[in-house]
Formats: sequence, structure tokens, C-alpha cells
Amino acid sequence: MPTKTEKDAVTGTMTTGHEWDGIKELNTPLPKWWIYVFYATIVWAAAYYVFYPSLPWVRGIAGWSQRGELAEKLAAERERVRPMLERIRAMPIADLQRSAELRDFAFAGGRAAFADNCAPCHGAGGAGAKGGFPALVDDEWIWGGDLAAIQRTITYGVRSGHAETRTSQMPRFGADALLTPAQISDVAEHVLSLSGRSTNAAAAGRGKATYADQCVACHGDTGRGNPEQGGPSLVDQVWLYGSDKASIERSVYLGRGGVMPAWTERLDEATIKMLTLYVHSLGGGR
Ligand code: HEC
Ligand code: HEC
Repeated sequence: MPTKTEKDAVTGTMTTGHEWDGIKELNTPLPKWWIYVFYATIVWAAAYYVFYPSLPWVRGIAGWSQRGELAEKLAAERERVRPMLERIRAMPIADLQRSAELRDFAFAGGRAAFADNCAPCHGAGGAGAKGGFPALVDDEWIWGGDLAAIQRTITYGVRSGHAETRTSQMPRFGADALLTPAQISDVAEHVLSLSGRSTNAAAAGRGKATYADQCVACHGDTGRGNPEQGGPSLVDQVWLYGSDKASIERSVYLGRGGVMPAWTERLDEATIKMLTLYVHSLGGGR
């Protein structure tokens, strides 16, 4: 029960009028400086609400936003690299390697673009992936591994639907009944023999004739492949779809043909050049 306020005899401070069992509460005000700082923070908060984006639907009259700041930084970055990209665009790709400055820039740019666009299919760092996505770090090339060949593959793709695409179609020897299952088994045995892995010389011998008739045009007479036709080598350790006999039979039965998108409409010329240099430098460039 509030009673009357009075001046406390010991401290000289007024009491609040609250009293419990004879103990009276002193009315000690907050220090003035504290109060003013407190008021200042309120004013600051109100002003902040007005000037900066604070509620989801209020942009703030200062017009600042994180997104805008990022866009500005990106635009500044683009402006910074523009002269380099312009030089890369204007220069024949073979000459790019001669300038250490351009080469380093292109390598970094190519690596970043590769991680963004290519790694989902070709694996991080171009390690390749099962199911027909070739490794780009080895020295085996389906369509050729020099700068011009790589640039063309990236620009127009493989079976991509672009008018300039690289293309070729391995026949579906089994599915379209061009070869009997026995012939497919024999030719697969011959393919194994090309890398010294056949265990059935008679079957491999029978398959050799079929191979000469049906496969040489795209895979070469010794099985070394034919970049003109995109026929991969069948004698190396690198297999797109599997190296055991069952996988080879499956490849012959179904026919094979991986699809690599064309990048010419999605990436600018300089980026494609940087990607070419990057891929070429991964290890197997010729
Ligand atoms: C959708 C999956 C996919 C994406 C994304 C992709 N590729 Fe490919 N790429 C393939 C396939 C599949 C092949 C094999 C084509 C064939 O069977 O001949 C290939 C082939 C290639 C080859 C030719 C390899 C050789 O041995 O001749 C190069 C070079 C290449 N890709 C580079 C790139 C680059 C650079 C990018 C990113 C800009 C990229 N690829 C993005 C699927 C993809
Ligand atoms: C018109 C060209 C063409 C002919 C003819 C052809 N191939 Fe192919 N073959 C290809 C192409 C292109 C690929 C690779 C497709 C890809 O990269 O996805 C391929 C892939 C393969 C593969 C898978 C290789 C791997 O790395 O996994 C095998 C095995 C194969 N061919 C065997 C044969 C045999 C055996 C014959 C004959 C009976 C034959 N091919 C005839 C074009 C041809």
C-alpha cells in the first residue's frame, strides 16, 4: 500500500512511498546521461527505419540494399576484367598461351566457368563420370585434343542439335537386328583382343571379320579410334560405358552416342576460349 513520500534522513533522497515491514524504497532516478543516450537510440532506430530497408515491404528512402550493393560490385568487377576479356576475344587462341599474364587470367577464368557449367557432367576438375561423360584430364580424345578441336567441341557440342554440331551415330547393331547375338558376342571378343584381354581366340577370330565390315570406319582398323567420326579408341584403358565383355556387348547392341550441349549461345566467345585453354591444360592437351 503506497504511503506518503518523504525525504530519507540518511541519504537525503526522496522515497517512492512503497514500504515493506518498515523498509522504505528510495526514489533514485537514472543518471541523466543514461536517459539521453537511451532517447538517442530511439531516434536512431526510427531514422534507420525510414532510411534503410527494415521491414520486408519497406525499401527505405536511402535506396540502399545488399542486392544493389552486390550488383554494383559485380558491375565494377566486369568493368575491371573487360579489357582482358576483350584482348582474349580478339586474339587467336594459339597466341593466348604466349603471354603469361593472359594465360594465367584465362586459366583462372576457365576454371571458374568449368566449375559452373561443366563439372556436373565432366566431374570436378574434369575427372569424368560413368555413363559416357568423358574424362578431360587424360590424353584420350574422342574428337581430338588440340586447341582448335577442343574449342570446336565446346562451341558447338556433340549431337547437340546445333547446326554446326559434331555428330555421328553408332548403329544399334543388336536392337535393329543388324548383327545376331552370336556375332555381337564374337565382335565383343575381338574388341577385348584389341587390348590383349580376350580369352577365346576362336571367337575373337570370328569377330575380326565382323569388325572389319562394321566397325573400322569409326573405330579404326587397329581400334585406335577415329576423331573424324567421334569413334573412341577401343584399345586404351579409358572406357565410357565399361570395359568388360558384357558392357562391350551392350554398347554394340544399343549403339552409343553421348550428348554434349553446344555452348555458343550460352557463353561468350572469350569464356569459351578460356574454357578451351583450361581443358587443354588439364593434362592431355595436344
Ligand atoms: C550435359 C552434360 C554435359 C555438360 C554440361 C558438358 N559436357 Fe562436355 N561432354 C559431354 C558428353 C556426353 C561428351 C561426350 C560426347 C561424345 O560422346 O562424343 C562430352 C564431350 C566433351 C569434350 C570432348 C572430349 C573428347 O574426348 O573429345 C569436351 C572437350 C567437353 N565435353 C568439354 C566440356 C566443357 C568445357 C563443358 C562446360 C562448358 C562441358 N563439356 C559441359 C557432356 C557434357
Ligand atoms: C558410325 C560410327 C560407328 C560405328 C560404325 C561403330 N561405332 Fe562404336 N561407337 C561410335 C561412337 C561415336 C561411340 C561413342 C559414343 C559416345 O561417345 O557416347 C562408340 C562407342 C563404342 C563403344 C563404347 C566404348 C566405350 O568407351 O565404352 C564400343 C565398345 C563400340 N563403340 C564398339 C563398336 C563395335 C564393336 C562396332 C562394330 C560392330 C562399332 N562400335 C561400330 C561410333 C561407331
